[in-house]
Amino acid sequence: MESQLNGTAFVRHLGTVSGDGRAGYAALADRVRTLLSDGRLAVGTRVPSERELATALGIGRGTVAAAYEQLRETGHLARRRGSGTWTALPSGTSTTPVVPFAPTSGAGPSEIAPGVIDLAHAAPAAPVDAVAAAGQEALAALPDHLVGPGYDLLGLPVLRAVIAERLTGQGLPTAPDEVMVTAGSQHAHALVVRALVRPGDRMLLEQPTYPNAIDLVRHASARPVPMALDRDALGRTRWDVAGFAAILRESAPALAYLVPDHHNPTGGVMDAETRGAVVAAARRHGVPLVIDDCLRDLWLDDPVPPPVGAWATVPGEAPVLTLGSLSKTVWGGVRIGWLRGPRAVLRRVATSRASDDIASPVLEQLVAASLLRRVDDLLPERRATMRERRDHLLGALARVLPDWSAPRPTGGLSLWVDLGAARSSALVEAAARQGVHLAAGPRFGTGGAFEGFVRVPYTHPVDVIDDAVARLATAWETLDAGAPAMLSPVV
Ligand SMILES: Cc1ncc(COP(=O)(O)O)c(C=O)c1O
Repeated sequence: MESQLNGTAFVRHLGTVSGDGRAGYAALADRVRTLLSDGRLAVGTRVPSERELATALGIGRGTVAAAYEQLRETGHLARRRGSGTWTALPSGTSTTPVVPFAPTSGAGPSEIAPGVIDLAHAAPAAPVDAVAAAGQEALAALPDHLVGPGYDLLGLPVLRAVIAERLTGQGLPTAPDEVMVTAGSQHAHALVVRALVRPGDRMLLEQPTYPNAIDLVRHASARPVPMALDRDALGRTRWDVAGFAAILRESAPALAYLVPDHHNPTGGVMDAETRGAVVAAARRHGVPLVIDDCLRDLWLDDPVPPPVGAWATVPGEAPVLTLGSLSKTVWGGVRIGWLRGPRAVLRRVATSRASDDIASPVLEQLVAASLLRRVDDLLPERRATMRERRDHLLGALARVLPDWSAPRPTGGLSLWVDLGAARSSALVEAAARQGVHLAAGPRFGTGGAFEGFVRVPYTHPVDVIDDAVARLATAWETLDAGAPAMLSPVV
């Protein structure tokens, strides 16, 4: 991300800032805190001078000065002698309206802090009995593994075999030595980027996409190349293969990252024909594909086509690297995922991995192996639960917030809601004041896109969904009431 912002670039980040009945400086300060807390504005960014920002926003310098002053008081801005003002995060307890990322003690189920509902993360709670049983089984199996050193860069053979068997069953024939065990699919993605991407390289990302994938590109000092996703008449996600091929030809990215099954955040599913065409285009242009399949098993209506890698049948072509994990099908806390790809690429990834991460924990791998063996028994119940919650959330939104619209996803864990107005960041701030933690639409894109959208997960029980929707409606109302009081010029 940028280390220095001029007034115009900062205004682009800020988007439309609404007073919502509050003073303009407070609204401006809130927006900066939101951008910092959701990662759109990097900590350590030099912000424009009060005068420059006031000119760029077309407001009085006094408003900017008051906002900066408040941000300094809350620890979100810091002055460095002789080198301007920089963004920061407060040490210790935050007084901001933005809810902390991790659950705090005292929080109940579905709460990120006491009384605060977490809609920022689309991750279901664990099936308790199944995880407990897998833990017991893993402990019983552990003694057999204590005789060796416990280090295995590619993962325990027993787990790699179960993963390979599962992928083969999905239509992607896989041998155990084509699998590397990782700490989740995001870790697998990071390992691939570390091994295959150099600073300055380009990486193709869907627009919108999973926020941590965008951050990964930036942290690798690579350049994101966004590929817009289409929507059909029913609002369902469509991948434009001609557009994809054109980007590969013109931008020659080092990697293309796609989430074809229950795309996060839109919930879209790539059809079989498009999968074949995407692989063929990547092959023509020699671009490795990173296919994130961590949400694949969460189809709610109809099973999805075989994994994209199943279409990569020509030896020596650009590799298709498939990411997977137990995080969405079972529980994120297991922290076990995998990377599936050609042996030569796995060797390269393993070599670059070893300098900071030598192996995955043995006990967790045994837990994962046990869970994967029984996952097909667990999935029907998980699907039934998510189906009920999806339909409940769609119904509640249609009733309580009829101006919002969201296509019915056929799987995944969230709705991608069109707000009908470019007010996502303002909604996130107003929702925080109502005790709901949300991720704003622009977190899912590059360049400030998606101010008109918000992702709403349906991972919570229906009573929590009802409570959350009621709070969102209150937040939306306060926004409407305050709409005319935009960050207005102070004269
Ligand atoms: C598309 C996508 N990729 C990766 C992840 C992270 O998954 P994991 O916990 O397996 O690292 C998520 C979690 O929300 C996701 O939605």
